[in-house]
Amino acid sequence: MSEKIWAEEISEKIKEKLEVVATRSKDKVPYGTKDGIFDDQSNNICWWTNGFWGGMMWQLYHATGKEIYRENAEKLEEKLDENLMRYEGMDHDSGFKWLTTAVANYRLTGNKASYNRGRLATDNLAGRFNPVGKFIRAWNDWGDGRVTTGWAIIDCMMNLPLLYWAYEETEDYRYLHTAKMHADTAAKYFVREDGSVNHIVEFNPETGEYVKSHGGQGCGEGSSWTRGQAWALYGFTLSYMHTKEDRYLQCARKVADYFLSQIPQTGLLPVDFRQPADCTWEDSTAAAIASCGLLELAKCMEGAELTNDLTDAAVKENGKTTYHNAALKMLHALAEKRCNWSMDCDNLLEKCTAAFHDKEHEFTIIYGDYYFIEAIFKLTGEEFFIW
Ligand code: GLY
Repeated sequence: MSEKIWAEEISEKIKEKLEVVATRSKDKVPYGTKDGIFDDQSNNICWWTNGFWGGMMWQLYHATGKEIYRENAEKLEEKLDENLMRYEGMDHDSGFKWLTTAVANYRLTGNKASYNRGRLATDNLAGRFNPVGKFIRAWNDWGDGRVTTGWAIIDCMMNLPLLYWAYEETEDYRYLHTAKMHADTAAKYFVREDGSVNHIVEFNPETGEYVKSHGGQGCGEGSSWTRGQAWALYGFTLSYMHTKEDRYLQCARKVADYFLSQIPQTGLLPVDFRQPADCTWEDSTAAAIASCGLLELAKCMEGAELTNDLTDAAVKENGKTTYHNAALKMLHALAEKRCNWSMDCDNLLEKCTAAFHDKEHEFTIIYGDYYFIEAIFKLTGEEFFIW
């Protein structure tokens, strides 16, 4: 079967299921599921994942034109206004929250109120920039005694497109320079010699000097948290796409080449590429995010044409097809082994993990579903580009 026909079949299954799920979840802000039914984060409105349901709705609205998706997305966008008005709930995750909601709405419909929300979120993100260390501060302090003023995290590479969007709208170079300076700092201090990346890097917030790295959501310092690798892979690719600066393409390729060397035969990813050999915990979200990054990275590469065929004979040994086919391998594994296609169950992906040291592993997480849909829609040509 050709890759396109396979992806179209998966896309049809997504659309069939999501119409049912969107109808029964219309007033929710989902994160995970309990007994197959979405929870609701409406009372936890500052949670970093709260935009992804909106992103799913806009992808589905773009692909089908069905009003239920637009209505759900608009409702969620309005709920997030409570977050915009709470400074303690504003952190570097504004890209994840408002690119998928307000900015998506503005891009699709030209809505002025959505533009306003997007700009407020962008200016808040830009305000987190430390000009001496040239990094965007990640989180606010958690009240547990840890001071995080000098902490930056690799995930932030995915929030930079909010700054690129504002620059593209306004031609105000502050946004572009801020994003590029953060990306350069991340390339220097997060990406290791072998192409793996740190999750957290701590800088001295007064002098800007590097202090140390932290293991964060991976197994420990020096480990290789798979979702962090995926954020870096997709994030540097996006910085290249927005700036056309070759150094970001080279950095994305370095991370991608390392990533490809670690993908297990099954195409299913562990929580950390360096987790103990007897640990079987998986994270399907990392596979979905990395697939999106690899599909975009493949498009950025010069050279051979993409094959439309999944047979070994069709796989050429060059960057373009190698990245594309690695994404296909993971997407096939997810669609065939880790997707729940039951109409009675709200989630798509299973075996998603938030962090290695959490008590629970292998559950359902909304952004896994978001990136899986985005990746499949990239293959079918139905994607609405969010980043
Ligand atoms: N941005 C936090 C995470 O990936 O879990």
